Amino acid sequence: MPSTVAVGGFFGDEGKGKIISYLSKKDNPSIVVRGGAGPNAGHTIKDGNTTYKVRMLPSGFLNKNAKVMIGPGVVVNPEIFFKEIQEFGVSDRALLDKHCGIIEQNHLDQDSKGRLKEKIGSTGSGTGPANAERAMRTLKMAKDVESLSSYITDVPDQINSALKNQENVLVEGTQGTHLSLWHGTYPYVTSKDVTASGICADIGLGPKNVNEVLVVFKAYLTRVGTGPMPNELDANETEQRGWAEFGTVTGRPRRAAEFNFALALRAIMLNSATQIAITKLDVRFPECAGVKSIGELDNKAKSFIKNIEDKLKVPVTLIGTGPLIDDVIDLRP
Ligand code: IMP
Ligand code: MG
Repeated sequence: MPSTVAVGGFFGDEGKGKIISYLSKKDNPSIVVRGGAGPNAGHTIKDGNTTYKVRMLPSGFLNKNAKVMIGPGVVVNPEIFFKEIQEFGVSDRALLDKHCGIIEQNHLDQDSKGRLKEKIGSTGSGTGPANAERAMRTLKMAKDVESLSSYITDVPDQINSALKNQENVLVEGTQGTHLSLWHGTYPYVTSKDVTASGICADIGLGPKNVNEVLVVFKAYLTRVGTGPMPNELDANETEQRGWAEFGTVTGRPRRAAEFNFALALRAIMLNSATQIAITKLDVRFPECAGVKSIGELDNKAKSFIKNIEDKLKVPVTLIGTGPLIDDVIDLRP
């Protein structure tokens, strides 16, 4: 399908980075484009022995044929942008829109102490304060930053032209549905809407040009920072189940709970999901580690997936069975 929008269905950290990097290799999109809030996002990608931690660029950069772009709705920290360009060697194909907002030191300062840090448990990345300033119409834009000038392009025009030429475009959301400023557990949310509609607005993709909406769920629930977390497990139980994780951006321990169907159903509705990806099946069912075909899954894992399809009424098309990019069962037609 020409355009696929991938978003998180829970509280972020569903494993979107790994799914996006798989799709970017498999579907060979000409553009992988990021919407979402800003460098508060953190994706971890394991390619062979190399681990990449991505905060600013789209996770699809491993496909060398793909241009990687950041849409105008995203706020950018130029320091992180340049660092990732260098680290991933993508200087010739990384682009951002002239209307990306710019995070400056004062945003980092405001985000690293006081209410945002202590009450909301923000990532301290300056994303929220920069978005607040954008709403005040005082935020600096990418076009005002000289060092960025050679990376600037018209992102909405590029993606819409690519789609017109029947090229594949992969759209990467960040955070998760229940961290949306509109639809999440306010005030314990991020500073933008991060559902599929919001992500599309961030990059200038109109609703009629969206072909597939892939909602990514992890096989269990995690949340970093504060805010409600239904049926939260205590640290011991989390550890025992092997669900203990640490934030990519902040290093904070993630809170964990059982897969939550009420939250998942809401995410399916809010995003108009056409497909579901389930990640980390191997963490729940270690026998599944590295499995690449559905037939090889044992019965417990199979019925876990079937139960999700039955309850959410959307096909599970991708299943993550390990940390490597290719540890995926791909059930798409
Ligand atoms: P902020 O987006 O940095 O303002 O943080 C607001 C809330 O969203 C905090 O609870 C963060 O932990 C959470 N959050 C923001 N970005 C992510 C993410 O990419 N993954 C998981 N949680 C996130
Ligand atoms: Mg993350």
